[in-house]
Amino acid sequence: LNRVQSLPKGFIWGGATAAYQVEGATKVDGKGKTMWDDYLQAQGRFSPDPASDFYHRYPEDIALSKKYGLNAIRLSIAWTRIFPKGYGEPVQAGVDYYHRLFKECLDNGITPYVSLHHFDSPKTLFDDGDWLNRKNIDYFVDYAKFCFDEFKEVKNWFTINELISLAFSQYIQGNFPPNHHFDVTSAIQAQHNELLAHARVVNLFKDGGYDGRIGLIHVLQPVYPYPVTPENQHAADLDDAFMNAFLLDGTFKGEYTPKTMKLINEILDANDAHLDIQLGDMDILKKASTRNDFFGLNYYQPSFFAAYDGDSTNTFNGTGTKGTTSFKFKGVGQAVKNPDIPTTDWDWNIDPEGLYDILKRVSIEYPNIKEIFITENGLGMKEDLPEGVTDDTIIDDPKRIDFVDQHVAALLKARSEGVNVNGYFIWSLQDQFSWANGYNKRYGLFFVDFTNQKRYVKKSALWYKELADTMPK
Ligand code: BG6
Repeated sequence: LNRVQSLPKGFIWGGATAAYQVEGATKVDGKGKTMWDDYLQAQGRFSPDPASDFYHRYPEDIALSKKYGLNAIRLSIAWTRIFPKGYGEPVQAGVDYYHRLFKECLDNGITPYVSLHHFDSPKTLFDDGDWLNRKNIDYFVDYAKFCFDEFKEVKNWFTINELISLAFSQYIQGNFPPNHHFDVTSAIQAQHNELLAHARVVNLFKDGGYDGRIGLIHVLQPVYPYPVTPENQHAADLDDAFMNAFLLDGTFKGEYTPKTMKLINEILDANDAHLDIQLGDMDILKKASTRNDFFGLNYYQPSFFAAYDGDSTNTFNGTGTKGTTSFKFKGVGQAVKNPDIPTTDWDWNIDPEGLYDILKRVSIEYPNIKEIFITENGLGMKEDLPEGVTDDTIIDDPKRIDFVDQHVAALLKARSEGVNVNGYFIWSLQDQFSWANGYNKRYGLFFVDFTNQKRYVKKSALWYKELADTMPK
């Protein structure tokens, strides 16, 4: 605990949420459909309703946040609550909801950090090509401007959450709609177009002189060769370019460096794929690249890669990740298991060193990064309510405490070596709906009984509070 006394006053100690994963109420107050609604219904595996019923119960979750020492919360605005089709006339009920929510946060001393897009593209725009359609970037910019003009109480903005997760899950892994597999052209184009959308919004925010700060969120997955050989190192470099470097370069350098493009071109060539960069695109990225006030870094796990010389295949079954499923990517490499690294209930690698490594790397390679927050980190587990539960039951989750403790230690180590990381948001504040895993993968500090929406405190929340109380005020 004493370690955290080295943190600066005002260090952000938060909990993270995302609109579609917590709000529920997907069919009320004029909300439009996202790309998920019909898809989930057709799958029939789980429904986004009621999720954690945050739409109605946010005062309870904000009260818990306050009680357990948090000083910040990550939220996202559901684009479709405000513009049901992604454009047109705003829906007042949606606007009012977010004003009420932000007020509740601020009245309780919980600073809201707000994303404009967290995996929930409006269905209308998704049907029209989603990020692959450049017209949709215009709609995103209009929606962002509306939010900046309307929600003046919000001072900390993120444009898009995890650009790679969208591109990769939609077009490579196929576990997000529209379920394309190894469509390399779409995946790389989506990355570029999302970067453009981000950069245009940052430029709008700065040129418009809005009061507040802005950035974006990348999930970074360090890629290590396993075992270490020159061939495996090259496979790891290729995967890193596709998953990390392309987006980091585009965001914080405003150019795709020759080193990154050499690797990306190798992947494109092997897959007969191409990237379309239009005249003026790079000027937009360049202009925005020095204007991000902060960088939100989500970290869960590294992956381990080996060389592979065959066609793409993926036996992804909806619960694993490429870190441990047999994921083979033509022209890149294959994911392999490192037996020395422990894993979660979902076979995700547990490796706090990866967080330290990636923090060091971005701070060295991307000097335009001014400030970093860990915007997501946490442990997804199978957890049940114990027999004979009462309102006062505390759910025991020692593995989560251990996980967070180790990752906070990695953060502190990086900080002590000069990395300017000033906040940590646990994923997640309360148990939530998980995109590919529904309701049985729990990350929360607070247990949610999804049958009646009751909240129970987990031991990790008590531990989190102790840490918050120990930090300099
Ligand atoms: C991040 C997302 O990728 O990982 C969250 O931003 C997501 O929305 C989290 O829930 C954990 O992923 P999963 O699949 O375990 O829910």
